[in-house]
Amino acid sequence: MSDWIAVTSVRGFEPGSREVFDLDGIQVILLNVEGEYFAIEDKCSHAEVELNTGPVVGEAITCPVHGAKFCLRSGKALTPPAYEDIETFPVRVNDGVIEVQAV
Ligand code: FES
Repeated sequence: MSDWIAVTSVRGFEPGSREVFDLDGIQVILLNVEGEYFAIEDKCSHAEVELNTGPVVGEAITCPVHGAKFCLRSGKALTPPAYEDIETFPVRVNDGVIEVQAV
């Protein structure tokens, strides 16, 4: 069973917030989208650039370089030029702290 890593407090991590952190050597983006938390790998599967500055609409993030969209919930590549999915990670709240599980 993988460890849960404490990332940040629920307090102050309002809807629209995002934070990049290191999860066992993987750069991960934690996002609050309308009160729901998502954690995704911070690497586009097309050209391996960071996704963390990309716009989020609904449950999708858009790569800031060539515009591929990825589902925040499943990591699925939704539009070209990306065809490979990205990693997603389980998120939970434990005693007011948002935790992400390494997989
Ligand atoms: S680097 Fe992300 S779509 Fe090309």
